[in-house]
Amino acid sequence: MITLIIFTILCTHLIIYSFPANGVSTIKLGDQLNFTSQLLSPNSTFTLGFFTIPATNYTYLGIWYTNDAESRRVWVANPSIPILSNSSFLMINPDNGKLIIATRETTLVNISDNLAGSSTNLTTTLEDNGNFVLKSETSDQTFWQSFDHPTNVLLPGMKLGSDLETGKTWNLTSRLSDEILDSGAFSLSWEPNGENSQRFMVRRRGQPYWTSGNLQNQEFEFMNVNNLLNSRYILNYVFNNKERYFSFDSVNFLFPMWILRPHGRIVDGNGGRLISTSDLCYGYDLGNGCVASSNTPQCRNEEDKFSPMSGDFAPGITSSSFDDNSSLSIGDCMVKCWNDCRCLGFITGGNGTGCVTWTGNKSISNFTIDARGNSVSKYVLISHNLDKEAMQERDDRHFLELMASDNLNNSSDIGMHGRTDSHDMMVFSFTSLVAATNEFSLKNKLGQGGFGPVYKGKLSDDTEIAIKRLSRTSGQGLEEFKNELILIAKLQHTNLVRVLGCCIHEEEKMLIYEYMPNKSLDFFLFDDTRKALLDWPTRWNIIEGIAQGLLYLHKYSRMRVIHRDLKASNILLDESMNPKISDFGMARIFKDNETEAITKRVVGTYGYMSPEYAMEGNFSEKSDVFSFGVLILEIVIGRKNSSFSLVDKALNLVSYAWELWKQGNALELMDPTLADTCVIDQLLRTIHVALLCVQDRAVDRPMMPGVISMLNNEHMSLPSPKRSAFFFGESASSSTSVERILEDYSINGVTITEMQVR
Ligand SMILES: *[C@@H]1O[C@H](CO)[C@@H](O)[C@H](O)[C@H]1NC(C)=O
Ligand SMILES: *[C@@H]1O[C@H](CO)[C@@H](O)[C@H](O)[C@H]1NC(C)=O
Ligand SMILES: *[C@@H]1O[C@H](CO)[C@@H](O)[C@H](O)[C@H]1NC(C)=O
Ligand SMILES: *[C@@H]1O[C@H](CO)[C@@H](O)[C@H](O)[C@H]1NC(C)=O
Ligand SMILES: *[C@@H]1O[C@H](CO)[C@@H](O)[C@H](O)[C@H]1NC(C)=O
Ligand SMILES: *[C@@H]1O[C@H](CO)[C@@H](O)[C@H](O)[C@H]1NC(C)=O
Repeated sequence: MITLIIFTILCTHLIIYSFPANGVSTIKLGDQLNFTSQLLSPNSTFTLGFFTIPATNYTYLGIWYTNDAESRRVWVANPSIPILSNSSFLMINPDNGKLIIATRETTLVNISDNLAGSSTNLTTTLEDNGNFVLKSETSDQTFWQSFDHPTNVLLPGMKLGSDLETGKTWNLTSRLSDEILDSGAFSLSWEPNGENSQRFMVRRRGQPYWTSGNLQNQEFEFMNVNNLLNSRYILNYVFNNKERYFSFDSVNFLFPMWILRPHGRIVDGNGGRLISTSDLCYGYDLGNGCVASSNTPQCRNEEDKFSPMSGDFAPGITSSSFDDNSSLSIGDCMVKCWNDCRCLGFITGGNGTGCVTWTGNKSISNFTIDARGNSVSKYVLISHNLDKEAMQERDDRHFLELMASDNLNNSSDIGMHGRTDSHDMMVFSFTSLVAATNEFSLKNKLGQGGFGPVYKGKLSDDTEIAIKRLSRTSGQGLEEFKNELILIAKLQHTNLVRVLGCCIHEEEKMLIYEYMPNKSLDFFLFDDTRKALLDWPTRWNIIEGIAQGLLYLHKYSRMRVIHRDLKASNILLDESMNPKISDFGMARIFKDNETEAITKRVVGTYGYMSPEYAMEGNFSEKSDVFSFGVLILEIVIGRKNSSFSLVDKALNLVSYAWELWKQGNALELMDPTLADTCVIDQLLRTIHVALLCVQDRAVDRPMMPGVISMLNNEHMSLPSPKRSAFFFGESASSSTSVERILEDYSINGVTITEMQVR
């Protein structure tokens, strides 16, 4: 397998081996890893190789999770010395035993600082935990390892803290920006005050900025590690006379890592959930971990905050200046603006370094918000003790602009460009959507959802989008609609379909989503041929992803969102078959009680509805958990809930599953297509969890955090499921309701059920 290539590198007498990109995790003295080759850890979890950042054309050597679609680098060898030559390679310097990046002519970067010398037979290996280790082949002595030189990411098993004997410390350092990987303004360190007072400190340019509060019972006072992530992380610390450090392990997590972002936040590697509240600290200790500072200027107070907004400061009465110091990052710009009493707002330069600041007399009233999000997002100073009127005036203007943009007749300028802040809603003109969908032609129709038809569209810049035309009965005023939309646009998670914007045309409202090429789960799952594409690992990944998306909706997003219509056709699949929940937030737009009339409108789909919701219109997280349970069963069985006979004794899939489970034959539920790929224990556990989710009484059902730990933790013992909801059994409070549902159900494809509740 080894190709011999003779090179004249550094030492002309040395023979240099080059080796295949696949399956190699070790470089020996004499080997070289070129620009296009990669190392793979023995179990393939991690990859090491060169990568180039397109914005700068700078190349770095880094490590990433092999299966991470975003290839987030968990370690970078040369953050401050980017490489421009694509003929460089990684090797062990035969002269001094150092790990280096070199060209044929010269050493570009000394990665390791060891003094092993060349006499020892050295090898360097990418290990399964993501550590890159230089050691002696014969004595096993370690000379250098990447875990001792952390960048901005903490991996399971990495230490954060200090070794009192050697004086070595392990800290994270933020990057300047996403494009410039050199050290930025923030560091994360482990700073115990004593054995019972162990905490993290985020520092900005060395000054205390934020602290986590003490670690107690697997949680920190101002961090959300485990209550957010369901005890996926096991937090450890060591405190003795030799070492004081923090480290974590993780339970069955896809990409366990903590990332210190350029603005000082700590986020988790799965969906980027916020772990720390070290968001923006202003030098006031407000009980959120922010450290009080004695340097706060007199002109600022606790009510003042920076908020990201699209728009522009009025020219003439405000002036801007640019500090092109390329060592400044966003955190530095914030201080710069905060400390200047005339400063109204700031942004960084184009590549995330340098600072643009605006000065003038008033803040918010000098700022024109661009509701279409076509201008660059800036951090604008907002004082929350401004008189309320000014805020109202701003909101009104925002709203008017939102509406006015619909009158634009030239749609060509409304593409995806210029959307700088992902939280901004774009307002699309009706004409641009008409053009994008061939006048909403049947050919472009993707499907008919409960809330209206969905169309595929292509914008003038070739961006593909999906457009949902909300049925006219949403019964909501424009102002309320706008408010809901802004909330929904803020829901961002890898397992939720992204909402790009909206369009309002006369009475009609439309939502614009990112387009998902692989259609929806039902398209594969319920088709005899296509379902073969869904092997067990894929299905498991889908179940896991839906669970994460749902958890986010229930727990993390500031407003608790109950989906209320979770089903296979609402699970869209991206190009890698990752699930994305769609139609979330709809229940907020379609109000439950439209009028005071007796008729209650129950939005949902037969078979996925929990008894208390279908019967009494009561919805809660638990009704979503029920639907999720049904969905899991469908995924395992590979059959539609509604394909089960309504006449014979097995009324529906849930009771069918329950009966088999009770008889100890749960394995019979397995879709035969899964025979070759199924992990039996995992499958049985999954069915078990599903049955817990579809229990009759809502109080018996777990919440999503519990569901996720049960799915993932193979050692956790699960309670026995109680009787599942039979839906038409004892829990049905009124037989007339049941009949109504059956009637409605028999009209194929209709998913909104209206019924009388007595
Ligand atoms: C890099 O190494 C790989 C694997 O040995 C080899 O196939 C490829 O030709 C090399 N590329 C260059 C530019 O040397
Ligand atoms: C990066 O390199 C490509 C190809 O050489 C070039 O087209 C592009 O302009 C470069 N980008 C930057 C930011 O220098
Ligand atoms: C790498 O280290 C060697 C000494 O070990 C030194 O001579 C050389 O200048 C260093 N090269 C770079 C690019 O830092
Ligand atoms: C280094 O490895 C070579 C080949 O594996 C072996 O012959 C030699 O004895 C080793 N040298 C030392 C110092 O261990
Ligand atoms: C640029 O900013 C850095 C970080 O604040 C500072 O240390 C340095 O002195 C500045 N350089 C200049 C030329 O102002
Ligand atoms: C980033 O932007 C700054 C300021 O605009 C500029 O001086 C610097 O060269 C840029 N850096 C890179 C790597 O493009």
